[in-house]
Amino acid sequence: MSAQSFEGKCRYPNLLSPIRIGNIKLKNRIIAAPTSPGMIDTQGHMTYAMQAYLERKAKGGAAVVTYGESIVHSLTGKQHNMQLQLDSYGNRQGLKECAEAIHRAGAYANIQLSHGGKYAGLASVGGDEDKEGKIAYGPSHEITPAGEVQEMPRELIYEIIESYGKGAALVKDCGFDMVQVHAAHGWLFSQFLSPVMNRRTDEFGGSLENRARFLLMSLDAIRKAVGPRFPIEIRLSGDDMMANGLDEKACIEVAKMVDDKVDLINVSCGNHEDPEMFCRTHPSAFWPRGVNVYLAAGIKKYVKTPVACVGSLNDPAQMEHIIASGQADIVEIGRALLADPYIPYKAMHDQADDITPCLRCYECFGEIVKSETTKCTVNPITGHELEEKYGHPAALKKKKVLIVGGGPGGMEAAIVAAKRGHEVTLAEKSGKLGGNLHPAGAAYFKEDIVKFCHVLEKRVERAGVQVQLNTEVTPDFVKSFDPDALIVAVGAKEWKPGFIKGIDLPNVVMAIQAELHPEQLGHRIVIMGGGLVGGEAAISFHHEGHDVTIVEMKDKIAGEVNSFYRGGLMPQIEKAAACYVNTTVKEILPEGVRVERDGKEFIINADTVVCALGFRADYDFVDSLTALVDENYVIGDCRNVGMIYHAVSQAYNAAMQL
Ligand SMILES: Cc1cc2nc3c(=O)[nH]c(=O)nc-3n(C[C@H](O)[C@H](O)[C@H](O)COP(=O)(O)O)c2cc1C
Repeated sequence: MSAQSFEGKCRYPNLLSPIRIGNIKLKNRIIAAPTSPGMIDTQGHMTYAMQAYLERKAKGGAAVVTYGESIVHSLTGKQHNMQLQLDSYGNRQGLKECAEAIHRAGAYANIQLSHGGKYAGLASVGGDEDKEGKIAYGPSHEITPAGEVQEMPRELIYEIIESYGKGAALVKDCGFDMVQVHAAHGWLFSQFLSPVMNRRTDEFGGSLENRARFLLMSLDAIRKAVGPRFPIEIRLSGDDMMANGLDEKACIEVAKMVDDKVDLINVSCGNHEDPEMFCRTHPSAFWPRGVNVYLAAGIKKYVKTPVACVGSLNDPAQMEHIIASGQADIVEIGRALLADPYIPYKAMHDQADDITPCLRCYECFGEIVKSETTKCTVNPITGHELEEKYGHPAALKKKKVLIVGGGPGGMEAAIVAAKRGHEVTLAEKSGKLGGNLHPAGAAYFKEDIVKFCHVLEKRVERAGVQVQLNTEVTPDFVKSFDPDALIVAVGAKEWKPGFIKGIDLPNVVMAIQAELHPEQLGHRIVIMGGGLVGGEAAISFHHEGHDVTIVEMKDKIAGEVNSFYRGGLMPQIEKAAACYVNTTVKEILPEGVRVERDGKEFIINADTVVCALGFRADYDFVDSLTALVDENYVIGDCRNVGMIYHAVSQAYNAAMQL
C-alpha cells in the first residue's frame, strides 16, 4: 500500500499520521465507517454499483474503507432485503472485485460481519424483507409489538459462531484486509449483551461474562479462521442508552473482555431500532458534532488496543484535536463521506474550507427505504458512482450559458457548467447568492446549511462564473443576453392563501421573513402549517423564547419528512410547541386564529401568525423565459417544489448535458 506522508507538513499532523493495526499500516487515522445502502443483488451478492460506491470513498483518501453488514448466517440473520450474504454461493467474485477496487484506489478493504438477531425475523427499520414465516431468534423469548421472538437454541448459537469463522475466512480469501465484527446498534451480539433483552439461564445468559460468551466465542472462531495478525475490528457500544441496558460502565467491561482478541475497538452507541435513539447513533443536527467521542475516550482509558470513535465527524480540525488529545486513535466517518468522500484528501491538501458539509438530513437513509439505493442532499454523485466512474463526454462546444437564480441549484449548475469549460453567467435577483438556503439555515441547529452555502459561493467564485447580483431577469433580459443555453432556477414563491380571511392583517408574517427577522415576531406565535418548514421554525422560535403553537390540517406534523430525520425532529417539536393536527385555520384575527377541529371552532390567541403553508412555482414566468432559448433547463423549486436534493441533483444533471 503506497503511503505518502503528510506528518509535519500539514495542519493535521496527528490525523494524517500512520498507525499500525495488526498486519496493516494505515496511512492516516481516517476510516470510512460502514454505510451499506442496498445496492446488493437479491442473492446477497456485491454489485458493481456498490463496488464503485466504496471505491470512491477510497479515492477520497480514507486509509480503510469498510463495507457494512454482511450477514454471516442469512437464514436467521438477514434483517433487510438487500444485504450481502456471506453464505450465499457465487459471492466470491464480487467480493474479490470489491476488495481490488478499494486497493487500486489506495485504501485497505474492510468488511463488517453481522447478524440481525431478533430483527432478522421482525419488521426492522430501513428494510422490508419478506419475513412471512421467518422465525425471529433473539437471546430470550419475548412478545414484541412487531411479533414473537423465540429464544435462540444453543445448537443455533454454535452454528452461528461457526458461520462467523467461515465468513471471515471467505472475505480474507477474497482479498479483504480486515474484518469488523458488529456488536453494537441493537443487532445480535448487542441483544445478547443487553441485560434487558437477554434473560437466559444457560451459559449465554445471566452475568455479563455469560452474556458476552457468544461474542467472545465468535471472536475466537474468527481469529482461528484468519490467523494471528489479521486485523479484527470490533464495533462496540459505548452505552446502549436504554433504560436498564448496557451502560457506560458495563460497556467498558465488555471492551476489556475483547481487548486481547481484537486489533481495533470502534465505539458507537445506541440502538438502530429506536427512532429517537437512531438520531444519537447517527447523531442529528440537534447534537453537537462528535457528541459520542467521550464514549470512545472512556473505553480508551481501560484498554491497550487502539480505539476508534464515530458520530457526526467531518471537520479535520476537530478530528485532529480528538487524536492529538488522546481521546481516540482513529476517527471513523459515515455520512460526511457521502456528502464529501474527499474529506481526507482535502485535509491533506489544506482544502478544508472546500468540504461539502453533511446536513444530517438522513436523506441517505430515507432513500434506502424508498428505493434500496442511496442519495445525498448535497452530493449529486452519491449513489451514482458507477455512472460517474466512466466519466462524462467533454462538452462539444463552449457555450454561453445564462443561469437565472442563485440558490443552491443555480450555484451548483454554474459551478459544474463552468468546470466543463462553458462561459457562465449567474444572475440573481437579490443582493447575495444562496436563495432559500438563508432562511433554511437561520435556525440554530441548521448551521450546516449556512456552511453549505458558503462552500458553494466560494466554488462559484473559483470556477470563474460571472455573477450578476441585484439582477432581475426578464424575457427582455434573456433576449438581449442571447445565451446558447438557459438554466432557470428561480425557485418558488411562498403560498399565501387569499381565501383565508385576515391573511393580510399586519400580525401575519410569511415563514421566510419570520426566519430571517425573528425580531419582528411577538411573544405568542401561531404557525399555520406543520410541514418541515413550520416544524423547524417552531423549534427555532421556541429556542428564542417564544410561546409557539402549530396548526396543521393533516393528521401528522412533518409528515412529509423521512422517518429517520422525523425520529429526531418530533421530540424537539413536541418540546417546542403545542401541536393541533386535523385542524383548519378559518380566520386570522388581530388576537390570533379561529380554527376548526372535529366540527368545533375555537380561538388560539397569538401576537403573530406565521404562514408556513408551502411554496408554489410560477410556471407562467418560467415558460416566458424558456420559450426564448432552444436549449433550456428548468431546475429546482420552479420545476417542482422539492428539497435541496432536487435542486442540486437537477442542477448537476442539467450542467452535465450542456
Ligand atoms: C447509509 C448508511 C448506512 C449505514 N450502514 C451501516 C452498517 O451497515 N453497519 C453499521 O455498523 N453502521 C452503519 N451505518 C452507521 C455508520 O457506520 C455510522 O456509525 C453512523 O452513521 C454515525 O456516523 P456518522 O455520523 O459519521 O454518519 C450506516 C450509516 C449510514 C448513513
